[in-house]
Amino acid sequence: MPRFHNLISIQDLTREDIDLILARASEMEEVSVRRSNILKDKIMACLFFEPSTRTRLSFESAMFRLGGNVLGFADVAVSSAGGKGETLADTIKTVERYADVIVIRHPLDGSARVASEFSAIPVINAGSGSEEHPTQALLDLYSIKKMKGKIDGISISLCGDLKYGRTVHSLAMALLHYNVSIRLAAPPQLRMKPAIIEKMLSSGVDVTTVDSVEEGVKDVDVIYMTRIQKERFPDVREYDAVRGKFRLRLEDVSLMKKDAIILHPLPRVDELDPAIDSTPQAKYFDQVAAGVVTRMAILDLILN
Ligand code: NCD
Repeated sequence: MPRFHNLISIQDLTREDIDLILARASEMEEVSVRRSNILKDKIMACLFFEPSTRTRLSFESAMFRLGGNVLGFADVAVSSAGGKGETLADTIKTVERYADVIVIRHPLDGSARVASEFSAIPVINAGSGSEEHPTQALLDLYSIKKMKGKIDGISISLCGDLKYGRTVHSLAMALLHYNVSIRLAAPPQLRMKPAIIEKMLSSGVDVTTVDSVEEGVKDVDVIYMTRIQKERFPDVREYDAVRGKFRLRLEDVSLMKKDAIILHPLPRVDELDPAIDSTPQAKYFDQVAAGVVTRMAILDLILN
């Protein structure tokens, strides 16, 4: 099997793999402007069983910039899985006959892995449950490297919903390959899973836990803010108890290092004040652009 067949979990990648993807993404900056035909005969199927704006459209934009073709559904209700109760296995065994690669987002943990087990063509995980979002972690690393010039040696604060947020889970696991210090800033109900903290500690990463936004943003190079994942709470009362409790306000920016950067996987709700958008620290829309070149690199490595 080639080195990059599927991309299911960030934990399946070595530091060497990650560095190769980031280097390829950097080369894609120029290709994304000039466009290319390197995936001219390839078809990407996007199967999105959950809402998405950036992940799906940036995968599609990446494919178009490389000359490839795209099909799929963005709303499960219009697919046979939603409307008629078709199994994931049957959906995959069908779509593999239409395309060269499957990009899948699904609400269940483990869904992308299951899809890959049924698929004869490569599968890319575009977000599975609350556990994994490997392509987001790669574009986050790419953004940090591009904006701060390095990943080794930085301090980063992961803020917000560390319990249900899949982006912070994958990013935390990716950061284990680097020499970084990590601050975990979350309300007590939304702290990082102990299993991930244990992995960080056993990898020798310097980790601290705080429970306020103010303590989260001070003295770090990167502030990674996240949305409280309303849709993942088993009980709406649990969500109501934390909603609006963890917000980055314009005045918090003055507590940050002058050269700190604020990232956010987006979408935001109320946790990131739009007034921050015009500060020099706000980099989340540049991070969106990093998503296109990173996904171009991933598609190229998997399909070529
Ligand atoms: C994230 C996701 O879907 O996990 N969005 C994204 O892919 N950029 C984050 C979120 O929904 O809060």
